[in-house]
Amino acid sequence: MLNYRRDLEKMPSYDGVEKSYRIKVNANESTMNLPPLVEERVINRLAMLAFNRYPNAEYYSLVGQIAENFSVEPSQVLLGSGSSEIIEKVFHAFGGAGRKIVYPQPSFSMYKIYAKAAESQGEPFSLDENFNLNVDEFIKKIREVGASLAVVCNPNNPTGNALTLEEVEKIAASIDCAFLLDEAYVEFYGQSATHLVAKYPNLIVARTFSKAYGMAGARVGYMIAQAEVTRMINKTFMPYHMNVLTLAAADIVYQMRDEFTPRLQMIIFERERMFEQLKTLPGVEVFPSEANFILIRLARAEELKNYLESLDIGIRYFSPSAFGLKNCLRISIGTIFENDEVFSAIKNFLEAAQ
Ligand SMILES: Cc1ncc(COP(=O)(O)O)c(C=O)c1O
Repeated sequence: MLNYRRDLEKMPSYDGVEKSYRIKVNANESTMNLPPLVEERVINRLAMLAFNRYPNAEYYSLVGQIAENFSVEPSQVLLGSGSSEIIEKVFHAFGGAGRKIVYPQPSFSMYKIYAKAAESQGEPFSLDENFNLNVDEFIKKIREVGASLAVVCNPNNPTGNALTLEEVEKIAASIDCAFLLDEAYVEFYGQSATHLVAKYPNLIVARTFSKAYGMAGARVGYMIAQAEVTRMINKTFMPYHMNVLTLAAADIVYQMRDEFTPRLQMIIFERERMFEQLKTLPGVEVFPSEANFILIRLARAEELKNYLESLDIGIRYFSPSAFGLKNCLRISIGTIFENDEVFSAIKNFLEAAQ
């Protein structure tokens, strides 16, 4: 018999089902590929790569750009294979046997898994019925359990709501342990806490190229923290954990990030339009969102998900056991045409049932 690591069998798996759909709005990806001008430059850059060399120059070129943009030192920036790798490493760095990691629920489902993987104890803190985080109670819990790491996703996935920067700062200022702020969707919110890193040595901000920059396939994310924190977290990474193709592509994308502004504006506009439209549907509760998706709740959520699937439209359905998310569906914002089609399909489903 193969002797696997203790408790590996009991490890929960990520429950996102990845199928392809004609309209795929289930994973908070960008439904548009790179802007053509950016794509052309990426392809040209890839043609010039030295595949025989480890990717030092490419890594530090991107680090340099990010550092400059946020007015921090390059020693304050670490890159990861998606922000997933960053988050997993932060959990690893502050986790370990007997350690407690506090995060809200419902939130990004991977926090629970990373806590387990780091052999530490996940300590979920429940959001209220409107998915708001009671900041004072959250701080109290972090202190009471003696957490080594607190995590907040801002804006929160899958609920879409966000803390204000004052609330984020209050958490950072009130706790002694490490505080990971997962800003995967922050470009759709516009209020990043990266500038607070200078003031709070416990604050670590994780960002990604997967959502706003439509780079989910390339797998690139980064974190910003004080230099001593990045020095320690850097110990948890393998050498050369980022590949040269990703780094070179991301370097160009970041140089050309202004090209993404119109589509970010379009997604924010579309999110508000979808929000207003969805609110007109009887029996559908719609939660306000600062991200690139909207969460809705309705009695026949599973049936609606199946109906949309029959039309080759994929949206995110949560298992009934997912905390607080019974009968909830999450819809990522796509192009105007995709959003119109998704909305009409939902409307037709509800009208047919009357
Ligand atoms: C809140 C949150 N954080 C992090 C991630 C990881 O994204 P990536 O690894 O693509 O950067 C996701 C992905 O959906 C997410 O929703």
